[in-house]
Amino acid sequence: MSTSVEPTFRHSLKRGGAGANPFEFDDNIAYGAWREEKLSAYPRDIDALRVPVADLRRPSAVENDAIVNCCRRANMAIYVTDPCSESAAGDKSMRLALTDFGHAFGLKSMESHRSAEDDGIVAIEVTSAESKRGFIPYTTKALSWHTDGYYNPPDDPIRAMLLHCVRPAQEGGINALLDPDIVYIRMRDAGRALISAMLHPEAMTIPESVEEDGSVRPTSTGPVFLFDDNGRMTMRYTARKRNIIWRDDADTQAAVALLDRLLGQEEEPLILKYKMAAGEGLISNNVLHTRTAFENDDTAQRLLYRVRYRERLSGT
Ligand SMILES: [Fe+2]
Repeated sequence: MSTSVEPTFRHSLKRGGAGANPFEFDDNIAYGAWREEKLSAYPRDIDALRVPVADLRRPSAVENDAIVNCCRRANMAIYVTDPCSESAAGDKSMRLALTDFGHAFGLKSMESHRSAEDDGIVAIEVTSAESKRGFIPYTTKALSWHTDGYYNPPDDPIRAMLLHCVRPAQEGGINALLDPDIVYIRMRDAGRALISAMLHPEAMTIPESVEEDGSVRPTSTGPVFLFDDNGRMTMRYTARKRNIIWRDDADTQAAVALLDRLLGQEEEPLILKYKMAAGEGLISNNVLHTRTAFENDDTAQRLLYRVRYRERLSGT
């Protein structure tokens, strides 16, 4: 479990400050210092990211600090609550608690999603509901590497995501997780031309698609690495091979091949894998993730709640 003696990550506080942006191409000193600190502070096992939270509605200052510290190190934390007290309070109360929990970290601008209920929360479960039919997240199938909302317009990205486990699957449903900052580091180490390719405004195109409700999601073309006004990074990425068009040039193809080796072939040693238990959840600045296929129990089906936000966790 995470404690207050975990390593802190100072550079994230400096990001956006004058002259200290590690993502700035011409500032190799800032980048080198940030890179070294990021890699040394990055958690080597999932326990370093687990933070007990007594009451999701009101995380204490200590709990809040521990989660923010994990997110400075790895852009994610796993909070751990008592599933009995949460389920006893009922589903509506649980969903309200999730909303309050997000607010405690400055997460307020929920995306509007076709599958969201009125409270902005999406139930990730096997279902034949019309709004979810045909979409892999609502089946028992595996999900390949992606960040959430990779098909969003680049000027309206998903910067944070909360995934709460109400009931795990009987078998499978394991998540692999990786901070996009690590991918940036591996790619910059491999050659700055690859980073330039991923910063190109036409690097990745997700074609238009017609949703179940008949609405049209427009074509989304943009870079893979996006930066907010404070210089903090968000990644748009999907490992899917269909319905995605990569820019047709050698550096883009090389960068995509590197991503496939790091993620798809799991050459990246800092990938963490975890099966969340009931009452646990991932709170993150939209980290890269997968899900393995799963099998449901006949009587208790896997159920996760997902909330996506337009802002990052404050203080990270
Ligand atoms: Fe996802």
